[in-house]
Amino acid sequence: MARDKKIIIGNWKMNLNVHESSLYLHKLSNLVKAHRDIEVVLAPSMLALQSLSLQVNLRQFKLAAQNFYWRDHGHFTGEVSASQLRGVIQYAIVGHSERRHVFYETDKDIRNKVAAAIRNDIRPILCIGETAWERSAGETVDVLRDQLIGGLSNITSDELKHVIIAYEPVWAIGMGQNAMPSDVDKAQKAIRRQIEHLYGTKASESLSILYGGSVTADSAGGYLAIEGIDGLLMGAASLDAYAFSGIVEKAHKGSDVAIK
Ligand code: PGA
Repeated sequence: MARDKKIIIGNWKMNLNVHESSLYLHKLSNLVKAHRDIEVVLAPSMLALQSLSLQVNLRQFKLAAQNFYWRDHGHFTGEVSASQLRGVIQYAIVGHSERRHVFYETDKDIRNKVAAAIRNDIRPILCIGETAWERSAGETVDVLRDQLIGGLSNITSDELKHVIIAYEPVWAIGMGQNAMPSDVDKAQKAIRRQIEHLYGTKASESLSILYGGSVTADSAGGYLAIEGIDGLLMGAASLDAYAFSGIVEKAHKGSDVAIK
């Protein structure tokens, strides 16, 4: 997918059981209009993915896993692989800061997951971002570079076309603390510079970059107005059906007729 679509992702994290997820999908279906210039992606819990995949209208919503294991099968008790998720989801979040910091995922895990997703026809949404400490030490650009290299080192330029990058400063996630659009703009430019260095100008220009971190209905427009930002990855706001559908409408700039 080129950058002609805004991508709006709702990460429900560890919220909503299977029944609640179905009810919530139903509610969202009535509120969120499908537009040709927007891709709306829902990331429910692993447990709810299968049942939602049978209920969802794929023209209206795509589904994403919040996590998966990178090997395709084998002796890995408790894990679910991208090959098992193939056909159920279209996207997968990889390297979310909660995976990096709460579950100690390493760059090696993350690059293996990016590759596993692509191998299984799933588009990885690679999350990168600096901590508050790294930010105050002026290391944001270095952290973004290291996480891009760490996450993409198995990926060819052809495969990169399937990758989406989400800039998610750790200090902004779930904190109610917004990044300034000017900081997000600087970060997306740094990401594009690094991708240009690794893969060339064309790859850098066609890469979709999202912002995530305490986005609300009020702040969404400011990020969406940034030229190099192609959408949003939201946690808390995605659990509020009215806020979420309002943000989808904000992202809809084109003149197409709703396709629902
Ligand atoms: P938040 O979560 O919107 O609740 O800050 C964002 C995320 O974790 O991707």
